[in-house]
Amino acid sequence: MSLNVTPVAGRIGAEISGVRLGGDLPAGQVAEIRRLLLTHKVVFFRSQWHLGEEEQVAFARLLGEPTGAHPTVPALHGNAHILDLDYSAGQKVDRWHTDVTFVDRPPLASVLRAITVPPAGGDTLWANTVTAYENLPEALRDLVDRLRAVHTNQFDYARVAASDDPERTKKYAEVFSATTYETEHPVVRVHPETGERSILLGDFAKRISGLSAQTSASIIALVQEQVTQVENTVRWRWSPGDVAVWDNRATQHRVVHDFGDQARRLHRVTIAGDVPEGVDG
Ligand code: SIN
Repeated sequence: MSLNVTPVAGRIGAEISGVRLGGDLPAGQVAEIRRLLLTHKVVFFRSQWHLGEEEQVAFARLLGEPTGAHPTVPALHGNAHILDLDYSAGQKVDRWHTDVTFVDRPPLASVLRAITVPPAGGDTLWANTVTAYENLPEALRDLVDRLRAVHTNQFDYARVAASDDPERTKKYAEVFSATTYETEHPVVRVHPETGERSILLGDFAKRISGLSAQTSASIIALVQEQVTQVENTVRWRWSPGDVAVWDNRATQHRVVHDFGDQARRLHRVTIAGDVPEGVDG
């Protein structure tokens, strides 16, 4: 059966219909989904009710090797590849980020499946980091091409916890381990499959190597403003059973935390990636 593809926004995101996801998709459909992922950066599949934990991992495996659930967050009981994003358990990473950039080899892609969503709110936004780069003025592109940034998980979790109420902070401490990761990546990465240049920053980027804290913060804010311009984004209104797959090498994303204490639960599987290469290799 052929796939139907409907772009959701002008620069990023497409809905794919006519496919029942699982680990047994024909090779032709897998190749087509991979191609669409590279083109649209994030693809959406509605109403994949049949997909359980095992089947989600089996589908993810068609795109690459699933990683452990997360470097610092315990996996879902019974499945080492599934990160249980249960927002009632204290999750509140509601800032623009690219998944797990604080490790040397950030994931290539993520597969997110909605289980419980609020009746309204709790959407997810994705931004295209390739068009963000392409739309920078040439002088800024020349600058960021040469920069490297330090990414760490400590930055994110410490700040989120510190800004929260005591009960949420306690839950946070239970969810996240104390392990700190830190690594350096080019600010502009060259996509290993498309050759496109994209911005690699997001909330785990703590500072620009070799620059003062203040100059780093100014440059990161300037570039992030471009990444998150509304024209550069797509917003997905979840229904239970929806699945989103994004290219972690060409996107940032964030949840819209406008649902208070209402239940919101999704399961994420990430696919192993490689060491990001900059414009000079
Ligand atoms: C994520 O950051 O991977 C999850 C986003 C979401 O919960 O919408």
